[in-house]
Amino acid sequence: MSQVHVTAKINGDTTEYLCEPDETLLDVLRNRLGLTGAKEGCGTGDCGACSVTLDGRLVCSCLVLGAEANGREVRTIEGMAHGETLHPLQRKFLEHAALQCGICTPGFLVAAKALLDKNPDPSETEIRYWLAGNLCRCTGYDKIVRAVQDAAAEMRKG
Ligand code: FES
Ligand code: FES
Repeated sequence: MSQVHVTAKINGDTTEYLCEPDETLLDVLRNRLGLTGAKEGCGTGDCGACSVTLDGRLVCSCLVLGAEANGREVRTIEGMAHGETLHPLQRKFLEHAALQCGICTPGFLVAAKALLDKNPDPSETEIRYWLAGNLCRCTGYDKIVRAVQDAAAEMRKG
């Protein structure tokens, strides 16, 4: 199969790559671009570990083709911090010890940021509902929800 030439904006940078027509965006990010923050938990859209945003919409990158990103904007966990300064969500995950093995964490952070971008003051129920597509085998979710609530409160204060 001949490879597809793609130009996409990834974390604000115009990026070009070649990929196979049937190659997932997750594999492109991890194997071609060295962006290994998004993880493959299932490869079937069930765990959320591969979450990224595509033109601002939360997607499972294991269900998107690398070729589909052509002309579009992709944001990954690597684009969340500003240099050495962590995003409030990242800081609150650390403060609340909302991670153990960490495999699910990039996906939770990307998903939580997508929620707070839309709704800066979500209820606990809204947070739990929004994050229902992200699975964690370690933490039991409560700390994750508290971290998101705390980050949201801090971000609302500006
Ligand atoms: S790896 Fe994509 S949803 Fe699990
Ligand atoms: S911290 Fe291990 S799967 Fe979530």
